[in-house]
Order: sequence, then structure tokens, then C-alpha cells
Amino acid sequence: MEIKNITVIHGPNLNLLGQREPDHYGTLTLDDINSTLTKEASILNLTLEVYQSNGESEIVDKIQSLKSDFIIINPAAYTHSSVAIRDALAAMGIPFIEVHISNVFAREDFRKQSFFSDIAVGVISGLGTEGYCAALNYAAKLNK
Ligand code: DQA
Repeated sequence: MEIKNITVIHGPNLNLLGQREPDHYGTLTLDDINSTLTKEASILNLTLEVYQSNGESEIVDKIQSLKSDFIIINPAAYTHSSVAIRDALAAMGIPFIEVHISNVFAREDFRKQSFFSDIAVGVISGLGTEGYCAALNYAAKLNK
């Protein structure tokens, strides 16, 4: 598998990172996370695109338009509800890692169900915003 272009997709309410429930999601903003990922990607010689939307249909449209080799996605609340986003990922066949900032298994029961995990390359949950970097580094290693 050759990975050159990676798209990071952030789902609903992740635009509020930094002010949103810091006990669960920490204090870094989405811009902080995206700029760290962009720097890390350039060190790894990868092209990175970042995208955030609060809308399910917008995320479906975005996935359908992708030409990327790999996706890192935090579907946020849609993790637990969206057959449409799952189907878009399955249709495109682009490998992806599912990332959650919080440990969804240590929270409410409804967060334990994901419509994505069984078709993901892997799932990272509970490592805070470091989870995105872990996913990026893993994707880069697929080239070696
Ligand atoms: C989340 C966990 C989801 O349950 C929640 O709806 C989110 C964020 C996380 O990153 O921990 O919005 O995906």
C-alpha cells in the first residue's frame, strides 16, 4: 500500500474543541490539532488535508469526493448513529483509522457502539488528541 495523501475528517462539535467538555476532550483547539498534524505530515513526507463538518450529508459528500490514499476520521457523535457515513467509507474503499479523543468504552453505554470499527483498519480511543498523531504515524509506516 502506498500512502501519500491523507485526509483527516473531524465530525460534529469538534469545531468546539478547547472549550467543549475539557475533562473529556482536553484544552487544545481544532486549529492546534490540525497544525500539529500538518507539521508532522510534512516531516513524514505526506500531504495532509483537514476537513470538519457538523453535517452528516456534508461528510458523506466529502468522502465521496476524496482521492486520498488514507483517511483518519473522528466521526464524533455520528460514530454511534451514521449508517450513511459508514456506507460512504465502504463505497470508496479508502482505508481509514477511527479516532476518538476520549475513551468511549469508559463512558455512557451508547458510546460503546460504533458503525465504523468493524470496517476500520484500527481504532484509537482514549489517547486524547495524541490519537490523531498515532494514526498518522501508523499510516506513514504502511509505506515501509
Ligand atoms: C468522540 C466521542 C463521541 O462519543 C462523541 O460524540 C464526540 C467525540 C471523541 O473524540 O472522544 O463528539 O468521538
